[in-house]
Amino acid sequence: MVATYDIERSFDWNFDNGPVYEGEFLDVPKTPQKDFLGLKVNSRIGIPAGLLLNSRWIEFYGEMGFDILTYKTVRNQYRSCYDLPNWVFIDRDDQIDPHILDEAQKLASLTPADHLAATSSVSFGMPSKAPNDWMPDVAKARKALKSGQVLIVSVVASSKAGSTVQSMVDEFGELAAMAREAGAQIVEANLSCPNVHKSEGEIFLDAELSGKIAAAMQKNANGIPVLLKLGHFADKALISDVLQAVNGKASAVVMVNGISRRVVNKDGSAAFGKGREMSGILGRGIHAFSLDNVKSALEIVKKDQLSLKIVAVGGVSRVEDAKGFFDAGAAAVMLGSAPMFDPSLAIKFKKSHPEW
Ligand SMILES: Cc1cc2nc3c(=O)[nH]c(=O)nc-3n(C[C@H](O)[C@H](O)[C@H](O)COP(=O)(O)O)c2cc1C
Repeated sequence: MVATYDIERSFDWNFDNGPVYEGEFLDVPKTPQKDFLGLKVNSRIGIPAGLLLNSRWIEFYGEMGFDILTYKTVRNQYRSCYDLPNWVFIDRDDQIDPHILDEAQKLASLTPADHLAATSSVSFGMPSKAPNDWMPDVAKARKALKSGQVLIVSVVASSKAGSTVQSMVDEFGELAAMAREAGAQIVEANLSCPNVHKSEGEIFLDAELSGKIAAAMQKNANGIPVLLKLGHFADKALISDVLQAVNGKASAVVMVNGISRRVVNKDGSAAFGKGREMSGILGRGIHAFSLDNVKSALEIVKKDQLSLKIVAVGGVSRVEDAKGFFDAGAAAVMLGSAPMFDPSLAIKFKKSHPEW
């Protein structure tokens, strides 16, 4: 099976040449219109920040019937990608317990036996084009959308020597304005990248700071919804504090990002190389833990009567995976890695559940 993202080639190659697709373009079933955060959509099935590297990727997956499309995380400055490998498959079919940080094994061959049951890990370091490049490309992505599709742009502040908490909060606010100006209908802050320095990757565990970032973004977003991408909460007691702190500022939270884990080769050496020992696990192996976090969040929203919506991500590749999230009350369901091997998943989901 040919993947749309070629893991043997660099991020830049995939950015310039992808997505790779040799299959046919199937008809996308017509589905009744729904609401997503005040916007009209054909379905609440989408792709979170990750696979959609630029406007060409957004256009392709829009053609394939995904309706909520997220432009991969961008910064206010250029940032190069980590060296290869950037994406490896994990040789286990159990659930990756987030309470244990050691260790997931890398698959020796390049592709998993069952593509739609795959567990993988990525380590890119949140590369970004400079604003002069990504802003016009976001405008292009917006133009490529069909009726009933929406564009989210994911952003992150860049920690650097001399930056303070306030300068980071301000930077998230500025990025919200830039994303909106470029054409985003929704702006998302990535508070949870599992593969970068702690100060960029674990913001979501700090409820007060997450609240400040949401407020700064809301102020600059000029009325468009603000989303926050959260990581997995190993300690579920923290979820309530975070949701309370961001409620009324963010419209929704997107849960969850890859679950951080040490990823090794069969001989125990670091799969992504020295300095990149920890990386985010994605796919089937995180589904049970993602669902558990999403359900806890939805219970809190109900109990505390929060206005916040929950967008669910984590290990969705089968109809029953998405059903678990929708039945729990998720506002939308996103597929991060599975559409790399099967871009027709939205079509399959729409055929069986036009109400999604
Ligand atoms: C190639 C790739 C790159 C990713 N990059 C980002 C990113 O830049 N920002 C972000 O918030 N999440 C990123 N993610 C994480 C996804 O949004 C999602 O949380 C994760 O893949 C879990 O979903 P899945 O189990 O359906 O793959 C990336 C995922 C993939 C597959």
